[in-house]
Amino acid sequence: MKAPISGATLSTGILDSSQSRPHLTFMRVVIIGTGGRVGGALARHFRLAGHAVMGFDRKALDLTRPEIIRDRLMPLAFDTVLLPAALTSLDYAEDHPDEAQAANVTGPALVAAVCADRGARLIHFSTDYVYDGTALGPRKETELPAPVSVYARTKAEGEHQVLAATQGAALIARVSWVFGPDRPSFPDQMIEQAKTGAALSAVDDKFSMPTSALDLCQWLEPFVDGPHRTTGGIVNFCQAGAPVSWQTYGQTTLDLAATLGIRLRTRHVEGRPLATMTAFKATRPIHTTMDHQKLTGLLGTPPRPWTDALRDYLRTYHAPA
Ligand SMILES: NC(=O)c1ccc[n+]([C@@H]2O[C@H](COP(=O)([O-])OP(=O)(O)OC[C@H]3O[C@@H](n4cnc5c(N)ncnc54)[C@H](OP(=O)(O)O)[C@@H]3O)[C@@H](O)[C@H]2O)c1
Repeated sequence: MKAPISGATLSTGILDSSQSRPHLTFMRVVIIGTGGRVGGALARHFRLAGHAVMGFDRKALDLTRPEIIRDRLMPLAFDTVLLPAALTSLDYAEDHPDEAQAANVTGPALVAAVCADRGARLIHFSTDYVYDGTALGPRKETELPAPVSVYARTKAEGEHQVLAATQGAALIARVSWVFGPDRPSFPDQMIEQAKTGAALSAVDDKFSMPTSALDLCQWLEPFVDGPHRTTGGIVNFCQAGAPVSWQTYGQTTLDLAATLGIRLRTRHVEGRPLATMTAFKATRPIHTTMDHQKLTGLLGTPPRPWTDALRDYLRTYHAPA
């Protein structure tokens, strides 16, 4: 996997700006979680868009430490906070519920309270896993969360508390199966393993929607400094397409990679039932593909299909020059 283009790495907590792209308004943007897949992409994107970005990775701002949240945010002047940091490992969260509660609920609620005090915009990130996944069909924002794991329960409670602390003004961006250049994910792992000739298998009876971190950054622009700057509440942010299993995701990755001249020794991903994944500690929901009609209405155009976004990603970060 190739490194992301320059601008990806931010000095922790340093005010940084450039003027390489036009934007509507100059914003001072705090990003909490720049060490992660979404946070890294957001930091690069909004910095290159010309905003002043103050980025914090986990070492610089630990959400489980309320005093650190206050110490870091209080001295800063900012218009917007983007909060992708979270305890995201399902199985780790299942064994560490108190840490998950602190990172995914208490910390975000405190950040939200600071934003409410300052009159600052907050965009908080959540997950399709807040849905229980029992019903077929795309999940709408109006459905009540019914989480089936510690991770999902804490993310659902985090959404609720962030909205309560901001009186509904925060935007909750629910995302699913994110891939991007700032931290390897499923398609990167499939390609690396396929290069070695390893036999590959993936779950074929659990469904969601792969989503590009880079597309996500573009969709968020009007919510940061455009017409939706004051839009609050929950919005599903995901690509378009029919529900995808991990097996379909993996096979499509290898098929696209082959068309892009990426040399693979394994070309097939075998399907396997979720029930065979005996090492999983946390329960995984089955049908969590999200409905993107609300996002489409807000953007005025539908998100592109996941296969188009994945092809672009593989071409940029995996294909030979
Ligand atoms: N990736 C997905 O497929 C996916 C799917 C659904 C929802 N989401 C949601 O999208 C958001 C962004 O996810 P992501 O893909 O960027 O995940 P990620 O790559 O795991 O990044 C999460 C970041 O949060 C940091 N973090 C963990 N505990 C923290 C704490 N106590 N204080 C401060 N930072 C902490 C992590 O630090 P370390 O670098 O030290 O681990 C990591 O840099 C999260 O809210 C997640 O729930 C992601």
